[in-house]
Amino acid sequence: MTAIESHNADILGRADVNDIESILGVTNTDVNEITHMVKNNADTLFSWDYSLARPQLRKLYEKAKVGQWNATTDLPWETPVDIEGTIVADQAAIGRGFDMSLYGDTPVKNWEQKEWLEFGVQARKWSLSQFLHGEQGALICTAKIVETVPWYDAKLYASTQVMDEARHVEVFARYLDEKLEGGYQINAHLRALLDDIVTDSRWDMTYLGMQIMVEGLALAAFGYMHQLTGEPLLKKLLRYVMSDEARHVAFGVLSLQEVYAQMSDAEIKERQIFAFEASLRMRDRFLQQEVWERMGIDPRKIMPVVLNDPTRVFFQQMLFSKIVPNCKKLGLLDRNDSWLRRRFEEIGVIQFEDFEDTGEEYLAFEIGKDIATPA
Ligand SMILES: [Fe+2]
Ligand SMILES: [Fe+2]
Repeated sequence: MTAIESHNADILGRADVNDIESILGVTNTDVNEITHMVKNNADTLFSWDYSLARPQLRKLYEKAKVGQWNATTDLPWETPVDIEGTIVADQAAIGRGFDMSLYGDTPVKNWEQKEWLEFGVQARKWSLSQFLHGEQGALICTAKIVETVPWYDAKLYASTQVMDEARHVEVFARYLDEKLEGGYQINAHLRALLDDIVTDSRWDMTYLGMQIMVEGLALAAFGYMHQLTGEPLLKKLLRYVMSDEARHVAFGVLSLQEVYAQMSDAEIKERQIFAFEASLRMRDRFLQQEVWERMGIDPRKIMPVVLNDPTRVFFQQMLFSKIVPNCKKLGLLDRNDSWLRRRFEEIGVIQFEDFEDTGEEYLAFEIGKDIATPA
């Protein structure tokens, strides 16, 4: 076993980051679960220092107060959504998301237009469902930050994010219920990541897991779907959510920068490992194993091709277009002999390191501004 493989074996329980059996071995075994309990091990901190110590966070707080919107009245819920028509149009615009020439010898070789359309419908339901569950994770994690962050300015800002996340849960749940007739349970990789974030006793890990990793990925994924879809209600919904989400990622970058600058190498190493583990869990969930199962396809038979399909690889890499520059800005890439840089090279996402970080980018995402979505 090489040094990298033994690192991976220690951290992930698998030497090869692309070990299909162990990726697919993580499944949601309790699909009827309604309540999910996680132990929150963090201390709750009061702060009696009410001085304005962090003006950048206070600026974000002021922006959040005027950036609020009302999901009930600001979105055109009366819009009829023909899901099949939407998927046909979206697939016509960008294709099916696969390099079809690679699938000639797989279980989908006899799929016709009808099956690909159904796959597209299920994939849309699945994606929006995972967005929904991730939004609830954000709601809970940010409420945790209100309690655990030692700074007054950050507690104020985080309280506005709690309201934002409530609205995001509201809009995705309503869209799935009213327009798509229901969705999917949480993906087990996503749930494991959310469990890790909530369980961790160190307050900065909530930020790293949620604001930097989960929300950084969400911002890229929302941007992709916003650009892709012609469905007007979903497009507007995503645009509004993104205006909040960019602030949330900025909150993570602005808060952690000063903390990580003062940490020891050993402390930073723990954060680097956490960031890498989160990266893989998020990447693995995008393999959409539940959608293949719903379509009657054994994921083990299709994953070897999907994992190497350049179209899918490009999509998965794009999801890291916000995470990598933000990790760089936090100093996480190159501490400890560039440990995280090496891991990001290994999973093929290091090329985003010089993309714009999200520390200031939130201003460009305000409602009413034209946004350049990630390519
Ligand atoms: Fe959100
Ligand atoms: Fe958020």
